[in-house]
Amino acid sequence: MEEQIKILAIESSCDETAAAVVVNGREVKSNVISSQIELHKLYGGVVPEIASRKHIEKINQVIEEALEEAGETLDSIDAVAVTYGPGLVGALLVGVAEAKAIAYAKKKPLVGVHHIEGHISANYIEHKDLEPPFMCLVASGGHSHLVKVIDYGKYEIIGRTRDDAAGEAFDKVARAIGLGYPGGPKIDKLAREGDKKAITFPQAKVNGAPNDFSFSGLKSAVLNYLNKCKMQNVEVNKADVAASFQESVVDVLSEHAINAALEHGLDKVAIAGGVASNSALRAKMAEKCEKHHLKFYYPSPVLCTDNAAMIGAAGYYDYKKGIRDGLDLNAVPNLKIGQR
Ligand code: KG4
Ligand code: ZN
Repeated sequence: MEEQIKILAIESSCDETAAAVVVNGREVKSNVISSQIELHKLYGGVVPEIASRKHIEKINQVIEEALEEAGETLDSIDAVAVTYGPGLVGALLVGVAEAKAIAYAKKKPLVGVHHIEGHISANYIEHKDLEPPFMCLVASGGHSHLVKVIDYGKYEIIGRTRDDAAGEAFDKVARAIGLGYPGGPKIDKLAREGDKKAITFPQAKVNGAPNDFSFSGLKSAVLNYLNKCKMQNVEVNKADVAASFQESVVDVLSEHAINAALEHGLDKVAIAGGVASNSALRAKMAEKCEKHHLKFYYPSPVLCTDNAAMIGAAGYYDYKKGIRDGLDLNAVPNLKIGQR
């Protein structure tokens, strides 16, 4: 029988305090998430200082719940995995300090995990048959990357955003049309009532860099459009703005992901991160993948946005490779992918 490696995973890089127990990187025994969205909504975005304080308040409770739900204890788990970057430094430090305390007190191996590698690994949980190599589009509130997954824990960045992340663009446009935070799910919903061809917004492309993205021009174009309507006393059809903006984002994200897969001779494409739960992106990816005979993988929404199960999946493959961190593990806010 295959050896059972039970990992307690901890995630606190932004505004979710999360803990999970994952067996052999693919089987989720528990996945507890305490979201701070309601708290940060008041300010229209994440306030780092508040996020850190809330993590401190919640982290023990979240870990206890995750262990209880999984029927495990701090003694019965095999290792502790924790996100150590990238993210908000004060938020990351809460999870890192907690994981170090557990590893020290219970003499368990400690594995520091890269947050984006976690997002990508959410696909391993959802699709038990998925194995590298594949192309992965990672689109979240903080990141927009095209990552070639060469092997477990082995990555190459093929493309990235030059300015805003895709999720950030969703959040900013949502705020401009009065939808509140976080904007992604709200735009996704409102766009269903709008006409995606109503307004032509620019594409989030970078001249001469076919795999890179740039969302700030698109964001400005939406803001200019709204201003122009206001000055001309024209009523804005918010659903049309949402649908047209979303179409522009989704078109570029999917086109780049498919082209990168084809260019690198890969037959599998995955998506990950908060924006991967966008219904229009999923539909467009499915359509384009079918056309190009590519297999398409995406995690269920709860595994797209920040969670600890994905950290447990990535942490397992690092653990298997023999990666261990010492009690000097620190938070690295701008940690690069594959940087060890
Ligand atoms: O992965 P995530 O939880 O956090 C980061 O690591 O950044 O992603 C959060 C981002 C937010 O910007 C949110 O607006 C966006 O993902 N998002 C969406 C959807 N659900 C979440 N964007 C578009 N459509 C959605 N359905
Ligand atoms: Zn994330």
